[in-house]
Amino acid sequence: MQQIINTSDNYQQQLSNEEELAYKSTENALKAEQKQQPYKVSIKKLEAWFGTKQALKDINLDVKENTITAIIGPSGCGKTTLIRCLNRMHEMTPSSRSKGQVIIDGIDIYDRNIDPVIIKRRIGMVFQKPNPFPTMSIYDNVAAGLKLNGVKDRQLIDEIVKESLQGAGLWEEVRNELDRPGMGLSGGQQQRLCIARALAMQPEVLLMDEPTSALDPMASSKIEELVHDLEQELTIIIVTHNMQQAARVSDYTAFLYLGELVEYGPTKKIFENPEKELTERYISGKFG
Ligand SMILES: Nc1ncnc2c1ncn2[C@@H]1O[C@H](COP(=O)(O)OP(=O)(O)OP(=O)(O)O)[C@@H](O)[C@H]1O
Ligand SMILES: [Mg+2]
Repeated sequence: MQQIINTSDNYQQQLSNEEELAYKSTENALKAEQKQQPYKVSIKKLEAWFGTKQALKDINLDVKENTITAIIGPSGCGKTTLIRCLNRMHEMTPSSRSKGQVIIDGIDIYDRNIDPVIIKRRIGMVFQKPNPFPTMSIYDNVAAGLKLNGVKDRQLIDEIVKESLQGAGLWEEVRNELDRPGMGLSGGQQQRLCIARALAMQPEVLLMDEPTSALDPMASSKIEELVHDLEQELTIIIVTHNMQQAARVSDYTAFLYLGELVEYGPTKKIFENPEKELTERYISGKFG
């Protein structure tokens, strides 16, 4: 299991035992599967609907640990829906449903013994538009999830806040103004604050939905560098509309079209020598 913060042992102890047990109980049941499971994330026959509208069809995708996977495809093809299925956010939309398996570290996150709250903690998400908690300080934005999970040790929270902000490449810019409102930061800083907030929960997988689409090129390239650095600690799945960004940051690329996974493979291959004509047409900007 990846630990991005040294203090995580202490932190883990503070997490509710009950939650941990609920998670662990399926761990045993699925041990056999886990042994044969070399991937960090394995998506099997995933389908998703909004009411009667099917947004994802038979998605099969395996993601290796400590890699960056880009999800590309035209607007409405299901990119956001796909990553929302990976931390059980999809089911929070009224009348939505999904089918199939999402196996993370050998555990099916849709197993009925799994608490979705734990899943959201272990599989972090950063959204298209930076969304710091509007009334909270920089410090509290990062600490909020820890406090919500019952962590009370102030010194421990201080350490995790610092390490998360360092991990998000924001510490040097905000270390002397942690009490200022998170909303007072620039757009790029706000997005890094949201990344720090996600890191504070010590996720194993980080999902990012077009994290730079609202940012200027300088702020975007800072996030790209950060994503690259975080790959050492995390498995990252990033949705992007920007082909150059996908080519620059990712190891693997998945191309979705009309809810189907058209092609998936090493980014270099997808961009230089794709198997499918549709992929080639999309990559070269012939539609989208
Ligand atoms: N809340 C919703 N209710 C009903 N249909 C939805 C909802 N959200 C998305 N959809 C539909 O599901 C399909 C996939 O949408 P999704 O948001 O996953 O696409 P996307 O690839 O992320 O698009 P974009 O690039 O514009 O963000 C689309 O047809 C969309 O209209
Ligand atoms: Mg989207």
